Amino acid sequence: MCLATSTPCPRLRKVKIAVARETREGEARVALVPELVGRLTGLGYVVAVEPGAGLGSLHTDEDYLAAGAAVSEEPWEDADLVVSVNPLDLDVLHRLPAGTSTVSFLPVSTSLDLVAELRECGLTSFAMELVPRISRAQSMDALSSQALVSGYRCAIVAAGLLRRFFPLNMTAAGTVPPAEVVVLGAGVAGLQAIATSRRLGAVVKAYDVRAAAAEEIRSVGATAIELELETLEGTGGYAREMGEDRAQRQRDLLAPYIAAADALITTAAVPGRRAPLLVTTGMVEQMRPGSVVVDLAAESGGNVEGSRPGGIVRIGNAQVWGGANVPSQMPGPASRLYAQNIVNIVTLMTREVDGAPAYAPDFEDEIVAGSCVTHDGVVRHEATRSALQERTV
Ligand code: NAI
Repeated sequence: MCLATSTPCPRLRKVKIAVARETREGEARVALVPELVGRLTGLGYVVAVEPGAGLGSLHTDEDYLAAGAAVSEEPWEDADLVVSVNPLDLDVLHRLPAGTSTVSFLPVSTSLDLVAELRECGLTSFAMELVPRISRAQSMDALSSQALVSGYRCAIVAAGLLRRFFPLNMTAAGTVPPAEVVVLGAGVAGLQAIATSRRLGAVVKAYDVRAAAAEEIRSVGATAIELELETLEGTGGYAREMGEDRAQRQRDLLAPYIAAADALITTAAVPGRRAPLLVTTGMVEQMRPGSVVVDLAAESGGNVEGSRPGGIVRIGNAQVWGGANVPSQMPGPASRLYAQNIVNIVTLMTREVDGAPAYAPDFEDEIVAGSCVTHDGVVRHEATRSALQERTV
């Protein structure tokens, strides 16, 4: 039998998970959708949601209540962990007792002050970007789930802005040729942009610096652009950064493909770096009247010179659309996929302790250890710890 002490008895205490309302401007996603509340209550969690948390993705407080969650102004009171899409606001962080966990996107390289704050507050923080890209973690890979949404959205934006058909049309009034789309960067987002453009009937050509990409490009129905350049493989299946010489040669070789395209979609990225500049204004100026450029990387420096995140600029004859928090532009599916990633990682961190379900991350587990940023007053993520140390020297 348990005696009433300040330490709650694991047999009596319910584990609690809080869902925060997002406060970043323009953010419409939510970290947990009503449909998946039952997955967490089924594990033994009490789920508490901040009022209005789901409104941006069209989920009302009543939907959460009907799914078995509580709706509360201070959902993090007594919570074992707080889940969100973006990092929590500082005023919320300061109200969490030491030892509480947070799970969210947390771009560590650009959030050193926040990481220091998480460490000082004694919070355990996990960054969804740091979930290792191993087979066992695929169901928790939020970078991929959100890139899938972004890639689709890029193709739809390009099709919407272009004042002509994507597909071939053979009619009694004559034949209308299909649009020609070029996609640069064929990772998760790029492949989805290709597949979506193909489904709409466009003729698609694509290029990526990784050797494996050509086969992947062909597998989704596009022609792989093969350039007389060395491939750039980094670690973990990612690309390496280009030197300026290689970058210039790549731009020279890609220029004719871009000049011939009706729509150009760029999705290239190198982890932890500014997005590579693939297309100069001079190259865009060679495009035909009515052309469209969609730069998914606009927020991280831009693949296209002169693109503006969250806006459309005119360069030469082309309209150039710059992406800004693109997954949030399809908040329903983006939230559903992100919430599934969250539920899967929380499931991994839930174990039976003394016969009762407990939130008990196993720091020996590769996925838990890899995604942990701070724990017990220490920055666990090595590169971030070094960056913080360098800053204080
Ligand atoms: P990302 O978002 O970091 O980059 C997007 C794409 O840009 C990559 O394909 C990259 O090669 C390309 N790129 C970089 N510099 C370029 C340049 N100068 N010119 C043209 N393209 C350039 O990548 P993402 O989408 O996150 O995926 C990268 C890799 O990770 C892929 O090989 C993918 O298959 C792999 N992956 C593995 C997973 C797993 O669980 N094993 C899950 C998801 C992705």
